[in-house]
Amino acid sequence: MTDAMMSLAGKRVIVIGGSSGIGFAVAALAQERGAEVVIASSNAANVDAAVARLPGSSGFTLDVRDEAMVSRFFDQVGRFDHLAITAGDWSTTRIAATRDLDLVAARDGMAVRFWGSLAAVKHGSSVIAPDGSITLTSGMLAHRPRQRMPFVTASAAAMEGLARGLAVDLAPVRVNAVCPGLILTEPVKRMPEEMVRGYVQGLPLPRAASPNEAATAYLYLMLNGYVTGQTLAVDGGGLLV
Ligand SMILES: NC(=O)c1ccc[n+]([C@@H]2O[C@H](COP(=O)([O-])OP(=O)(O)OC[C@H]3O[C@@H](n4cnc5c(N)ncnc54)[C@H](OP(=O)(O)O)[C@@H]3O)[C@@H](O)[C@H]2O)c1
Repeated sequence: MTDAMMSLAGKRVIVIGGSSGIGFAVAALAQERGAEVVIASSNAANVDAAVARLPGSSGFTLDVRDEAMVSRFFDQVGRFDHLAITAGDWSTTRIAATRDLDLVAARDGMAVRFWGSLAAVKHGSSVIAPDGSITLTSGMLAHRPRQRMPFVTASAAAMEGLARGLAVDLAPVRVNAVCPGLILTEPVKRMPEEMVRGYVQGLPLPRAASPNEAATAYLYLMLNGYVTGQTLAVDGGGLLV
């Protein structure tokens, strides 16, 4: 790509889930590329802290589980160019063998990740630029299931199906998904070392990625105007083994 093709100057980028982790890295990278950045997530203190870390950005408190709040958010924000959604939570209650799965916790996980993303796309799609893009977030467990994680596998895979369906329905707005392998965000840093090793050993690139490495994939999908309906893996080669 030429320099001009790498630029987001004059563009407005919204990152839902942008107060931490992968989302914050997307917000920071988009701003570095010239975008006006809006960060949104459910905890007001987290949003304030993120805006303080990224001067020039603006912040909104938004719980994607609340459709009326999502609708009001897009009314307030108005026209924008690109939307990245990384909202998700890491409740470990959803990591369980099938017979022990807490279905209430599982439903709540889908309420944020799947239904929250769909609500954001539904209401955002009426104010997004026609040449804009939406990028959802999947995860490697969609393709490499593990024991005690059937729900996480399904919830990640749902995001890829959603991206494909939306890409056809919302065209010419482009819709894609990023499929992260293990990314060194705070929840991952809190995992036992042995668990992290279990995820990365045997990969062609046997390490976790930085949030910035993941963010680069979201930026690519915003910037390339001819890519839609795709899932871009940032997985250290995990899909090869
Ligand atoms: N890190 C990895 O290795 C990895 C791998 C594969 C997939 N993923 C997926 O990537 C996404 C981001 O992961 P991460 O590691 O960056 O996690 P993270 O640092 O915990 O970020 C999650 C973000 O979502 C926001 N959020 C949570 N509930 C929300 C709600 N109801 N409404 C709006 N925002 C909400 C959080 O802020 P508030 O608390 O302020 O709401 C936070 O900004 C998750 O969906 C995760 O499953 C991550």
